Amino acid sequence: MANKFPKDFLWGGAVAAHQVEGAWNVDKKGVSTADVMTAGANGVAREITKGIIEGKNYPNHEAIDFYHHYKEDIALFKELGLKAFRTSINWTRIFPNGDEEKPNEAGLQFYDDLFDELLKNNIEPVITLSHFEIPYHLYEEYGGFTNKKLIDFFVHYAKTVMTRYKDKVKYWMTFNEINNQADGQHTLHTWTNSALLFEEGDNKEALTFQAGLNELIASAKVVKLGHEINPDFQIGCMMAYVPVYPYSCNPSDLMASVKVMDRRFFYSDIHARGIIPAYAQKYWEQKGYEIEITQEERQALKEGTVDYIGFSYYMSGAVTTLPDVAGDEITEFPEAKVILNPYVSASDWGWQIDPVGLRYTLNIVYERYNLPLFIVENGFGAYDKLEDGKIHDPYRIDYLQKHIDQMALAVNVDGVDLMGYTPWGVIDLVSFGSGEMEKRYGFIYVDKDNAGNGTLKRLKKDSFAWYQKLIQEN
Ligand code: BG6
Repeated sequence: MANKFPKDFLWGGAVAAHQVEGAWNVDKKGVSTADVMTAGANGVAREITKGIIEGKNYPNHEAIDFYHHYKEDIALFKELGLKAFRTSINWTRIFPNGDEEKPNEAGLQFYDDLFDELLKNNIEPVITLSHFEIPYHLYEEYGGFTNKKLIDFFVHYAKTVMTRYKDKVKYWMTFNEINNQADGQHTLHTWTNSALLFEEGDNKEALTFQAGLNELIASAKVVKLGHEINPDFQIGCMMAYVPVYPYSCNPSDLMASVKVMDRRFFYSDIHARGIIPAYAQKYWEQKGYEIEITQEERQALKEGTVDYIGFSYYMSGAVTTLPDVAGDEITEFPEAKVILNPYVSASDWGWQIDPVGLRYTLNIVYERYNLPLFIVENGFGAYDKLEDGKIHDPYRIDYLQKHIDQMALAVNVDGVDLMGYTPWGVIDLVSFGSGEMEKRYGFIYVDKDNAGNGTLKRLKKDSFAWYQKLIQEN
């Protein structure tokens, strides 16, 4: 079997602005949702504070100071052989509060310089418009994405940057991992996806559906607008795909897995098909949820379907309805529980390692939408040890190689149309989930620890040479 990828395959690396840039209050940047998240730890949640509180540790404020190191970092990306680099535009650099009419020129200039530097090095920018960086003011003043005004603010922001960078950026994505928030039960997810915090008595599920739907409407409007700005734009969605398997072949386990997956597919079904799926309509009716959507908005969904499906893949999950198996309850299918899959191992953070799950995901998603796919995140968060100035990380190479092998099968055996692969955290960065620095994904090590100490010096890990060779050999 040919283990090759298409000639123009986008081998790359991915980060997000708030996890690398730092410079959180430089050049008139405003406060974002990520700027009020403190450092947690492995198994300890990050705190979301009301504004910035003196004396707390906010790891995104400095991150790895990519804002001032990007030239040096891009030189390393070039040496690595990257053909694409995925990052996001930090909304609050462009509109510090989110509801201004006029953008902040210093913020626009920063991304002009960044994209120029990438293009000069033959690296294609792949840009996410909203990667957990919603202006904090939009929470304080409007309550986040449950408020329909945020649709207009997002469209205005997107129009501004798509117009400015129309000749520099071709690949766009609207909302990062929009389906993280799916069940509305995790504060970190509803906060980062939607700038949404709940009060006592709120119906979390209904409010999250409303916020998510508003984002889908905003996204569709931006897809249409983007194509008017430049017909060559490729505008995708960005999903977190965690395939959930039935634990047993008991038919009710299978049905539970279908319902759990529906909840996640809800977002890409609308992004790709432009209509609200029947299973969601029925669910809302049964629950008595009145999710607001106008005729004009329904039309917008139809007219703004995406060009490709961008997604992250890290792990799989499993569910069961069997009474004698221990697990955690879920909202999507009350009789079912999430359980640990005994057939796969897990990372130090409990993320279940399942390379075959990537091939499975590529298959089911391609069959579902028949659109090109783009793996824009995949990777292994691990503790690295610096020994004699070197980082030996065979565990990372092993994880990535096994996933790439499955990707090759999906392309060469199953016929999946795959545009590219940008593994997560090409350079070490602040973890989204825990706020740690020491949950490392990179091929490039950054000298900084969880407490924020370190020189920020960059260092190539063993995996750097491995990925470099893999890209060369395609
Ligand atoms: C995805 C996000 O959830 O996974 C990234 O898009 C995030 O922002 C990545 O960093 C890995 O998660 P974590 O919690 O290990 O940083």
